[in-house]
Formats: sequence, C-alpha cells, structure tokens
Amino acid sequence: MSQKIQIFDTTLRDGEQVPGCQLSTDEKITVARELELLGVDVIEAGFPISSPGDFLSVIEISKAVNEVIVCALTRSKKDDIDVAAEALRYAKNPRIHTGIGSSDIHIKHKFNSSREKVLEQGVWAVQYAKSKNAEVEFFAEDSGRADLAFLAQMVEAVIAAGADVVNIPDTTGYCLPHLYGKRIQYLFENVKNIHKATISVHCHNDLGLATANTMAGLMNGARQAEVTINGIGERAGNTSLEEVAMIINTHKDLNLHTNIKSERIYAISTMISEMMRMPVQPNKAIVGANAFAHSSGIHQDGFLKNPENYEIISPDQVGVPCSSIILTARSGRAALKHRLELLGYQPSKTELDTIYEHFLIIADEKKKVENEDLIALMGQMPILV
Ligand code: KIV
Ligand code: ZN
Repeated sequence: MSQKIQIFDTTLRDGEQVPGCQLSTDEKITVARELELLGVDVIEAGFPISSPGDFLSVIEISKAVNEVIVCALTRSKKDDIDVAAEALRYAKNPRIHTGIGSSDIHIKHKFNSSREKVLEQGVWAVQYAKSKNAEVEFFAEDSGRADLAFLAQMVEAVIAAGADVVNIPDTTGYCLPHLYGKRIQYLFENVKNIHKATISVHCHNDLGLATANTMAGLMNGARQAEVTINGIGERAGNTSLEEVAMIINTHKDLNLHTNIKSERIYAISTMISEMMRMPVQPNKAIVGANAFAHSSGIHQDGFLKNPENYEIISPDQVGVPCSSIILTARSGRAALKHRLELLGYQPSKTELDTIYEHFLIIADEKKKVENEDLIALMGQMPILV
C-alpha cells in the first residue's frame, strides 16, 4: 500500500527569512491560499514572537485558510510558545513547532549549555506547548551534526513528553544522503515508541544535497518533508517542494504519495519568484525556464520523434504550458524544419539544406534564433536558392 508523505511548506517562514524576500501580510495570505489549493498538509506561517508583522500574519493566515494545518515556530521558551499559541487562536488545525539545538556545536557555542540542560529544556517546551490545545512538533536543530546516541535520547524524550511530530533538521546542509538516511534508520531502530510520532525531514542545501537528503530520509521511514517553493530559504536554501513532489510522483516504485496537485506547481513557483523578487535559475529542476527546453540537435531530433526520449515528465504535469525547442547553432535540420513548418513553410529537402546553411550563420551571430529571424530569412529565399 502506498504511504502518504505529509508536505510541510515553510516558504512563509524559512523561505521568507531570506534578505529581500519579505512579504506583506496580504501577500502572505495570497500565498497561503495558493499553498492550500496546491495540496500541502502544513503551512508554517511564521515565527510570531520575532516581530509584530509575523504575529499578525500568522493570525490572518489562520483566518484565511480552511483545513490545512497552520504552524508557528518558537524557541523552547515560554514567551515564544505563549505568543505562538495566541497567534494561532483562529487556526482550525494549529501546530506549535518548538525546539532546541541538538549538536554539541550548538549546545556549547550557541546555548553555552550542556546536553542534559538542552534535553530538559526541550522536554519542558513540548509539555508546555501541549497545554495550548495544538499539535506539537519538536525540532532537534542541527540534527545532521548531532551525536547520534544523544539525538536518539532527545527524540525518545520528546515523544514521551507528547510530541506529535519530531523534526530531524540538517540545519547546515552538512549530511551526505546515505548518512542522513542512516540517521533516520538509526532513530527508527533505537528510539522507543518512535511510531507514536511522525518523523519529519528538514534539509538545507549548502552542498546542493537538500532534495537527495530529504528523499533518503523518506526512504528510511520519515513521513513528513519540510520544503519551500523554488527551494528558497536560508543561505543556499531549503529542499524544494516541486522536486520532492515530482520525484515521488515519477518513482511509483517508492510506494509513496503526496496530496500535491502537481499541475499547480508552475503557477505558484512563478508567483513566489515574482512576489519575493527571487528569480528562478534557468536550469532549476521542474520549474526553471530550461526545464523543458531542448537545445542540442541530437536531443531535438529525439524529442521530435517522441518526447519521452528526453522528458521523464511532461510539462503539463507541472502546469508548464509546453516544451520548447530552442534554435541555436547546435540545432539540426530536424528542429529547423519543425519550426519552419510551425511557421507555415514547407521547404523541400534541397531548400532546407540551403536554409540550414544560412540559419547557422545567423545562429553563430545571434546565439538564439527567433521566429522573426526565420521569417526574415525565408523572405530572402528566392535570392538565396
Ligand atoms: O533549519 C532548521 O533547523 C530550522 C528549524 C528552526 C526547524 O529551520
Ligand atoms: Zn531550516
């Protein structure tokens, strides 16, 4: 039986922390509504104690959405939890996301504390958050670098304290996929009552491994993935929602599924990129401008014979209007003929050979040949042949 992966979207919290990406409350409401339509299970709406704006946004998002879980971030502090609970008061399905550092680096150099004290603080925070009539998720910050036996002890203690979800973040994007997967496996093998909670994966992209690590976590039993649209987030970003959703969608053999309506992906990606003034890199998987663009002659010829030769998902599956064939000096006759036919021309084989020679000269000059260039070239055809 296929198992459901909960999609926890943190575009409005981890994503919005990026300098220059801040949104107004109205913009956040628009994003939250679109995320709900996209089918995410949880929206992390903000960190209410961090600013009055974040507090207000969590309130307004809670009012604006329907059944989706609305989550608010806190440190393991009473004031943070009180303010988060207050901000979530209109949410139909509220969740408090509290936590503390778990690696020795964080324990010593961030909290100037000890393993015993952070463990006690984390357990206290879960118990206190539980008294607020909300689901509670605990994050063991910097899990990727934590001592594994201590991490297991922490996870066991917060589950015993009532945590509904336990997040194992690779906060610094340090882990390698097989080792991150093994961490999750170790927790499943060594933590008492681990099945009482959902294990969540939250990965950063400092080494470009966020998606691979997230998948390794899911393949080892985690059942919630924390992601952002376009992978925006602190430093090199977070795991991107569209990548995880489409990996799960494409690899049916994983026996996993999400509720994501994949055909809405491209529209929300474009909206986030514009609203947050954060361009999507052209070669970004799934949503980049080149994700469905074919530019070399061999690929174009193969694609024109059958798109499946070079596309493992079709653009309409993610709401991209169509694939494109970019005419460059690397294009062959097949692509040129295809484009000319789309423009209404029916060149003979000999004519095509001549047009192709002139096309290559234009392509070397211009890098990318547009329809106007071809129309102009065809206008000269009687002179050229
Ligand atoms: O990366 C991280 O550890 C976080 C936590 C606050 C969940 O964003
Ligand atoms: Zn994070």
